[in-house]
Amino acid sequence: MIDFDNISITLGGRRILTDISISILEGEIFCIVGRSGVGKSVMIKQLVGLLKPDAGSIRFEGEEVTTMTERQLTGLRRKCGMVFQHATLFDSMSCVENVALPLRKHLKLSAVRARERALGYLAQVGVEHLAYRDPATLGPGLRKLVAIARTMTMEPRAILFDEPTTGLDPLAARKFDALVTGSLVRSRVTQIVVSHDVRSIFDIAGRVAMLHEGRLRFLGTVQELAQCTDSVVRGFIEGKPEEVGVQ
Ligand SMILES: Nc1ncnc2c1ncn2[C@@H]1O[C@H](COP(=O)(O)OP(=O)(O)OP(=O)(O)O)[C@@H](O)[C@H]1O
Ligand SMILES: [Mg+2]
Repeated sequence: MIDFDNISITLGGRRILTDISISILEGEIFCIVGRSGVGKSVMIKQLVGLLKPDAGSIRFEGEEVTTMTERQLTGLRRKCGMVFQHATLFDSMSCVENVALPLRKHLKLSAVRARERALGYLAQVGVEHLAYRDPATLGPGLRKLVAIARTMTMEPRAILFDEPTTGLDPLAARKFDALVTGSLVRSRVTQIVVSHDVRSIFDIAGRVAMLHEGRLRFLGTVQELAQCTDSVVRGFIEGKPEEVGVQ
């Protein structure tokens, strides 16, 4: 469904990623891991055209992303939704109005229809009881769930999560994991999750890619990850920062 083919990218005069090739299959939960600053966010931003690689090709359902016009990218971003690390909800409106916004703007639904549909998406992620709350009164975990409901309104074919459990308490993090492996799997959306959270990765991932020093260090199933003997990979799994090169 998604192909990164020999991607290299330089930013601010520095080579960030070199020759990365990854193929993501329809319906899978694919995790991208690696130390801070290695280029995980850069990787997924390239997929939705927020950054352009210097070399290589990126295809989404067979369509080349790197040469898309802004108009084509807008269409792509509906098919491939992104949930940013810091859920950006408007605090001036209720949760249900936040979720209804893309339905009104892109699908031109009436206020009543949009609200009805928005309530359905809030229910899908398990937070319909928050519909009339002001997002500013919610913790980061619940805000994230509302942001996911908003992304789901476009019925994307794939959804990208950047560090979804960072900053969440363990209970909220497990709630996210349950959503990913439950309701989102049932909706058949392909999920790409950038994460540092080893516990979460083992609970949700089908396959995992680990980036290290600008290159692809590991690519395989989560079972293969558990058995991998590479010291850098083991350092990450076992939380030994010296092995992964963190000062
Ligand atoms: N637009 C940009 N211009 C210049 N440099 C950038 C840009 N975006 C990212 N970088 C650099 O690219 C490198 C990789 O950044 P990236 O945000 O992808 O890291 P990351 O793996 O997501 O880290 P973290 O786990 O901390 O989120 C960093 O050194 C960062 O400073
Ligand atoms: Mg990042």
